Order: sequence, then structure tokens, then C-alpha cells
Amino acid sequence: MATFQFRTVPHIHAGRGSATELATIAAPLLAGVERVVLVTDRGVRQAGLIDAPLGELEVAGLSVLVLDEVIADPPEDMVLAATARARDFGAQLVIGFGGGSSLDTAKLVALLLGSDQPLSDMYGVNKVRGQRLPLILIPTTAGTGSEVTPISVVTVGETSKMGVNDPALYGDLAVLDAALTLGLPRHVTAATGIDAMVHAIEAYTSAIEKNPVSDALALAGLKKLHGSIERACLDGADMEAREDMLLGALLAGQAFANAPVGAVHALAYPLGGIFHVPHGLSNSLMLPPVLRYNAPSAEPLYTQLAAHLDLAGASTEALVTEMERIAGVVGIETRLSQVGVSHNDLPKMAEDAMKVERLLKNNPRPMTLEAAHACYESVL
Ligand SMILES: NC(=O)c1ccc[n+]([C@@H]2O[C@H](COP(=O)([O-])OP(=O)(O)OC[C@H]3O[C@@H](n4cnc5c(N)ncnc54)[C@H](O)[C@@H]3O)[C@@H](O)[C@H]2O)c1
Ligand SMILES: [Fe+2]
Repeated sequence: MATFQFRTVPHIHAGRGSATELATIAAPLLAGVERVVLVTDRGVRQAGLIDAPLGELEVAGLSVLVLDEVIADPPEDMVLAATARARDFGAQLVIGFGGGSSLDTAKLVALLLGSDQPLSDMYGVNKVRGQRLPLILIPTTAGTGSEVTPISVVTVGETSKMGVNDPALYGDLAVLDAALTLGLPRHVTAATGIDAMVHAIEAYTSAIEKNPVSDALALAGLKKLHGSIERACLDGADMEAREDMLLGALLAGQAFANAPVGAVHALAYPLGGIFHVPHGLSNSLMLPPVLRYNAPSAEPLYTQLAAHLDLAGASTEALVTEMERIAGVVGIETRLSQVGVSHNDLPKMAEDAMKVERLLKNNPRPMTLEAAHACYESVL
């Protein structure tokens, strides 16, 4: 067996209604803590999702500052401003509550409060020095898997998405409560669910750090997501489908935390950075062309994934066609022109995608500027 490493978070608590028992579940982490910041966004707050956990924490005697200013694809300035408010408050523990944007922001707030290192020095892989504050992560999308990854993605300047990838960003506790996802709108359910499927697919074909544990998690995650995404989109109140989605996203997250994603994500980044296309939708758009481009190098692995999903005539094409069918059923965009991209934008997008070396190095087939351009062109 080849040598490999596998890391994940130390504690996962899953169960319907868990978020309403947060103070009990997190009691060991909360011992001796008086001041907590809860990082979320206005959409999650207005949906009423934090009300019960917040009440519970306050009944337990904790003083809680809610920072609800998170913006999708978190801008660096917003992260720094949230950190300053949390520092002024004297936060001793950080809770991330929401989609990937809220969790990623919370992870960095916890890190920046515990260390003197500037954020600008942390971008890249294994660049973090110092400690972070205790950190609890509670996802409300299914999802980025951010609750079990050592990654935070930030928008730097106007359009660049940069990642901090370091074991220090693994939280202390992830709480999975599918009840939080029941009200997730159909379009967000679809896009975030396909993002999770892309995590599983890209982890399974990751060029460098793919290993038997990440493979097992990617397969299990993809199966759960594939079996539930249509049901969760067509009937948002289907609790079993919501639970499978949340668990599938977590398993896929554990997989790609160790076997990192590749060119689908790299080519998706400029869509988020320049056009503010939601992360999941960007990935859904770029999945078919990148898988077809990768086929000469990754056909056996895509075939294994297609067979694992019991797709007829298991092949790359069967897998891609199935993902296109799902995008059609759940009703999300499938062409770049539908999200405001025009032919003239493609050269800059291809250039930006080629800068995402952190991810491109994991792609099973080397990506080139010309191929990136052709991938965009084919789904314009
Ligand atoms: N850290 C990682 O490992 C990782 C992995 C993939 C993506 N990401 C990042 O995560 C971000 C995307 O996260 P996301 O796709 O989860 O979306 P998001 O956090 O940006 O949220 C999308 C929208 O959904 C709303 N929402 C979330 N949960 C809801 C609920 N239960 N009910 C109603 N509305 C709800 C939010 O208010 C927001 O308007 C991007 O910045 C992306 O780069 C991080
Ligand atoms: Fe993703």
C-alpha cells in the first residue's frame, strides 16, 4: 500500500434538532467560556435559524455577539472587519453558522483572533503560524463541506478568490442538523448539492493525494448525494432527503479535504470572482466540459464512479450525461451566457483560472490556457 495521510475534525455530532441543543452538545468546549461570537449572514438570520441555538446559549449564561455581515464569496475586508468586532468584544470562542461563506469567515476569525499573523501571509497551503480560538461549525447548506475541511476561500481585491488551506482551520466540533436545511430554496439546494457532488468526483480523481480513505468517503458521499438531490429539490420538506444531502456533503468534504479538488473548481473561480455567480452554480456549469477534457487521463476512474451510481453503459460520458440530466431536473443554468458571460470575457477568465495553481496541480490531466478557454467556449 502506498503511504498516505488522512485528517479530519475530531468531533462530529449529527441529529435532527441538534442545533437546538448546542449548549449541551458543546459543553466541554464552552467550559470556562463567557463570550462567544456567532458568525452568520443576514439570510440565515432572517430565516430564524439562529434563534433557538442563540436562546439556548444565553440561557446557559453565555454572552453572544452575532456577526451577521457575511457576504457570499467573503471579501477580505469583510473578514478583517468581522475579526476587529470580535476582538473588541473579547470573544473566547467562535461559532460559524450558515453556508460555506459563513463557515469560511468564522474559521478565519477564529484563526486571526488567536494569532498575530496577517491574513495576507496565510494564503496558500500550510502557511499558518500560531493558534486559533475554539471553533464550532454548523452548516445550513449541503454543501461545501466547509465544516470538515481545513480551507477558507476569500475574495481578495475585486475579483480574485484565494484560499487558506491549513490543518489549523479544522474546527473542534461540527454539528449536523438537517432541520436547518429544510427551508433552503430550491435553486440554492440544487447548486450547493451539485457543488458537493463535484467535491466527491474531483476528490476521487485527485492527481496527488487521493488515497483509500478519501476514495471510500468520495464514493459514499456521491452515492448519498445522487440518491437524494432530486428529492430534496422537488420537495424541500423531505427530511430524509435533506439528511442524506447533509451527510453526503460532509463525506465529500472529508474526501476533498485530503484529496483536493482540481480544474472544475479552478475554472469555476473566475465565475464567482468576476461575475458573482454562486459557487455551486459555477461548479455545476464547469463540470461537463472539464470532465470531458479530463477523460483521456481519467476515464477508468470516471467509469468506476458511473458504475458505482449504477449508470447504464458506465463511462465518462454516462457520468457527464447524468450530471447534465440532474441540472435539468433541478432547474439550474447550464450555459455561461445565462449568467451574464459573453465571448469577450473568456480570455480573462481563462487567464485567471490558470493562476489557481493550488487546485490545477490536482487535476488528473494538465490544464492549459487554450484548453481552459475551450472549456468555457463549449458551455457559452
Ligand atoms: N471551505 C471550503 O472547504 C469550501 C468548499 C467549497 C466552497 N467554499 C466556499 O463557500 C462559499 C459558498 O458557500 P455556500 O454555497 O454554502 O453558500 P453561501 O454560504 O454563500 O450561502 C448562499 C445563500 O444561501 C442562504 N442560506 C444558507 N443556508 C440557508 C438556509 N438553511 N435557509 C435559507 N437560506 C440559506 C444564505 O443566506 C446565502 O444567501 C464560497 O465562498 C465558496 O468559495 C468553501
Ligand atoms: Fe466547492
